[in-house]
Amino acid sequence: MRHFLDIRDAGAATLQSILDDAAAMKAALKAGAETPKPLAGKTVAMIFEKPSTRTRVSFEVGINQLGGTPLMLSAQDLQIGRGESIEDTARVLSRYVDAITIRCFSHDTLLTLAEKATVPVINALTERSHPCQIMADLQTMIERHGALDGQIVTWIGDGNNVAASWIEAAARFNFQLRLACPEGYAPPAELTAWARSEGADLVIYDSALEAATGSQTLVTDVWISMGDEEGTRREDFRAYQLNEELLAVAAGDAIVMHCLPAWRGMEITEGVIDGPQSAVFDEAENRLHAQKAVLSWCMSGN
Ligand code: CP
Ligand code: NVA
Repeated sequence: MRHFLDIRDAGAATLQSILDDAAAMKAALKAGAETPKPLAGKTVAMIFEKPSTRTRVSFEVGINQLGGTPLMLSAQDLQIGRGESIEDTARVLSRYVDAITIRCFSHDTLLTLAEKATVPVINALTERSHPCQIMADLQTMIERHGALDGQIVTWIGDGNNVAASWIEAAARFNFQLRLACPEGYAPPAELTAWARSEGADLVIYDSALEAATGSQTLVTDVWISMGDEEGTRREDFRAYQLNEELLAVAAGDAIVMHCLPAWRGMEITEGVIDGPQSAVFDEAENRLHAQKAVLSWCMSGN
């Protein structure tokens, strides 16, 4: 059974073949060619405990394009909202559907679901990681700058779930990942230690300006993720805004990415996100293509 729970679970060859497939599916869709239908006659449950625009819509559209039927299940509408166990939910859903995507507050919920389900499970974001986002981001990098080997990517801001999946990707591909996070918001030390032990080229900076210098991709995310308390975050992150000053020291052909939703004027300036170097809407579009490739990979394991 092929779950897609985290980038770290797959080898580089598998990830690269999913990315190749995503590029081929995108090209075929743009050319008006017929899409293969690996989900024909199949139903995919989509459980969401948190809001979503991109993930929900791109999965729903992608499942339809692959010939399947998406089933949107908000957690409040399921009995898990009243305390039914995730174990029983996994067993029951596995009797009806052919795959499950889940966006949940606790990564442990994802792991339990995957352990008890007898159909593939896909991580649609937890507080710890967001692997589908990073597949779309890698696809965008390849489109703009070619093979990942030797590229320099700089993460600016919170060492959050999206950053964690970037770190896992750095352990699987040969790009340099620089991280500039304010004090107290670094990614988990055990994650960076694991990634380095797997060969990741991670460089940690205090200064966002230094981290951005010469970089080909600048990436950021919100300062307050779903489930986070605001506390002193706005103040703590002030020196970690992706702005014109950082873009000016990056490589001349640098691109800017943000998984969205964005708070213009906080983690990113309007001029940068809406400027000519922004790749954010290609990145958002690529969620569709990358997830279709992930779904196809999961289903072809059965
Ligand atoms: N980037 C992303 O996952 O967006 P949504 O929260 O809208 O799904
Ligand atoms: N880090 C953000 C990503 C949203 C897609 C969050 O978890 O809210």
